[in-house]
Amino acid sequence: MINLAKIDKQIIWHPITQDKIADLPVIIKEGMGPYLIGQDNKKYLDLISSWWVNLYGHANPHIAKAIYEQALKLEQVIFAGFSHEPAINLCMGLQKILPQPLKRFFFSDNGSSATEIAIKMAFQYWFNQKDYNKKSYISFAGGYHGDTIGAMSVGQSPLHRTFGALLFKNHHIPFPQTWDGDLDVELKEEISLNALQEIIKKHKDEIIALMVEPLVQGANGMQICRPSFLEEICKLTREAGILVIFDEVMTGFGRTGKNFAFEHIDFVPDIICLSKGLTGGFLPLALTIATEKIFEAFLGNNMQVAFTHSHSYTANPLGCAAAIASLELLVKAETTENISTIKEAHTIGLQKLLATEAKLEKFRQIGTIAAFDMVLPDDLDLFKVALSLRRKFIEAGYIIRPLGKTLYLLPPYCTSAQELEQFYENISAIIAEEF
Ligand SMILES: Cc1ncc(COP(=O)(O)O)c(C=O)c1O
Repeated sequence: MINLAKIDKQIIWHPITQDKIADLPVIIKEGMGPYLIGQDNKKYLDLISSWWVNLYGHANPHIAKAIYEQALKLEQVIFAGFSHEPAINLCMGLQKILPQPLKRFFFSDNGSSATEIAIKMAFQYWFNQKDYNKKSYISFAGGYHGDTIGAMSVGQSPLHRTFGALLFKNHHIPFPQTWDGDLDVELKEEISLNALQEIIKKHKDEIIALMVEPLVQGANGMQICRPSFLEEICKLTREAGILVIFDEVMTGFGRTGKNFAFEHIDFVPDIICLSKGLTGGFLPLALTIATEKIFEAFLGNNMQVAFTHSHSYTANPLGCAAAIASLELLVKAETTENISTIKEAHTIGLQKLLATEAKLEKFRQIGTIAAFDMVLPDDLDLFKVALSLRRKFIEAGYIIRPLGKTLYLLPPYCTSAQELEQFYENISAIIAEEF
């Protein structure tokens, strides 16, 4: 057997990887349901949905067939001055599951672009109305909206510290993370609310928008806040005349137990960003969806007020065909049942761990996402712990990527209750040697 991993190590530059000390990559030859299968035929349960994109399992035949059939008809066409049935059908399909105000669909091809577009769109919304004071955003401390310059500036991820000098200034409020049995949640929420009110009082005229990962901060350790808090900050922000952008790149399409995170609250944002699960995890595609009011601010008799942002692969027909097929699966009763099964399996698993595992804490869950933190001595190198744990999970046949002290599960919806139960039973033995 050719050692592909060794060849890879010599020629490929992997993302978020310290190549000097990283293990050889695991070469995956195929996928099947919630499993990925290695070159050596070893099966791995993909408990992180391959960076949170996969919804219905790997190589799902319904989505694969839709892409194949579309590829035989039309693979790509310029999207300025031209359009096509898959793009139009996808937007009409999404309109059925989105609230009425969110009706203008702007395509791109990854989550960072979707958020970068939202950032630019919100800026130009004010600019087109001759409000030239608007120059900054409010977001959560530790938030992650992608790796492009605008997305890094509005977010505040520790991953982006190196680029500080390149980023523009914004305002950040604390994220009141909570968990099972947390006694301080109200105090944390009050601190965050006060911070928001203070920023609005001082800087209202310059603020373009509040941009948040709704309910769950993904990259910052699957931190979860309460819906009532999210609703309150959104309403406060809108009352101040500031736009609200929800980055649902990770939370979209059922992850939180509802189609979109904003469905947990009584509030419809002005702009939402979707990607990751949009195509069920098959192809890169993204959408920035705005209200008609935002869209109308870009209408005029010259290009000056138009939104001059584009990507070569905008609304790629294959991606759109995959997204339509994925949407067909999302609205099936079977998917709703699978999501409930995962929710229940997490709840049972977390309760067992809470009762038996003293090395874990801060158990939290929303929908199909479960997370908990490892109780580690302060002087441990978290990066090395993560590397070592990842290796142990791989050996045990699980794909898990610790985020700092946090371990989380975000499985494809076809993962069974038994598979999750087995994992919750095995985890103590896997992490045992690490502490
Ligand atoms: C909330 C959120 N926004 C944006 C992004 C960026 O998406 P992409 O990796 O597709 O650029 C991510 C990726 O993890 C994300 O979690």
